[in-house]
Amino acid sequence: MSDEEELKPICEDHVIKGKRLSNRIRRNVQVEVEKLTEKYGIAPKLVTVIVGEDPGSQMYVRMKHKASNKAGILSDHYDLPEKTSQDELMALIKKLNETIEVHGILVQLPLPKQIDEKAIISAIDPLKDVDGFSPQNIYRLFYGGEKLSSATPHGIVTMLDYIGMGDLSGKHVVIINRSTIVGKPLIFLLLNRNATVTICHSRTADLPSFTRQADVLVTAIGRRKSEDDSFFITQDMVKEGVVVIDVSTPHGDVDFENVKEKALCITPVPGGVGPMTITMLLQNVLDAYSAQVSKS
Ligand code: GUN
Repeated sequence: MSDEEELKPICEDHVIKGKRLSNRIRRNVQVEVEKLTEKYGIAPKLVTVIVGEDPGSQMYVRMKHKASNKAGILSDHYDLPEKTSQDELMALIKKLNETIEVHGILVQLPLPKQIDEKAIISAIDPLKDVDGFSPQNIYRLFYGGEKLSSATPHGIVTMLDYIGMGDLSGKHVVIINRSTIVGKPLIFLLLNRNATVTICHSRTADLPSFTRQADVLVTAIGRRKSEDDSFFITQDMVKEGVVVIDVSTPHGDVDFENVKEKALCITPVPGGVGPMTITMLLQNVLDAYSAQVSKS
């Protein structure tokens, strides 16, 4: 990456350049991976597991491997059949927990119905839990001082850090999403940065009355309005000077061109949160590896 590229702003013409920030962080991860691999004589390794045939999962996991390998992170993958039993998956997790050469374990969600997702996530060694989903990592997040945190929320707060909103004192952040992967962990990351946080979801009445109060609006609805296929977040639903983070892919929730006219900063789709999510996974693999090799 050229020095000129390094110096470019992350928010330019009101648009948050997720790809630019992502490239910058990935470059730092790569440099650090190279240094530590040389120092400890072992490279970081991520192992992913997919159970079943979900095409979305296959695509995301392929992207995770490609990005890992580019950063000098080794990777391995297990593709298990749809009817894999709880015991079979548990046995694999146990084996990966015990394999010293494996530093990060990622079980792609969702899992088939016969498998108890919570039990599987809880079985992953918290030191290798690069998703930050295990009870110990959630506990750390709850109390502040998190080590490994869920990639998408982590990517969102990192973007805010880079546009000068690392401290959210006095700011009202409205999140539209209550999932365990995005909305719930994001609450704590934001509270730990002094934000005032409101969570909205599919059962919230009068959504615009909340979105209009937002200094920062994070939206992850993931679909259009069914009656006329229009965007959920329109210009009339935000206040002047808002920061908008649109998590939804492949189509954003936000009427980008019109909302941008009022926004201080806004993420595009694609090229906003998406690349940051994989980048934060790479950062988590590096952090997990670093904690493990420096201990042994
Ligand atoms: N499915 C959708 N997002 C994620 C993620 O961040 N991690 C895992 N393990 N599964 C997912």
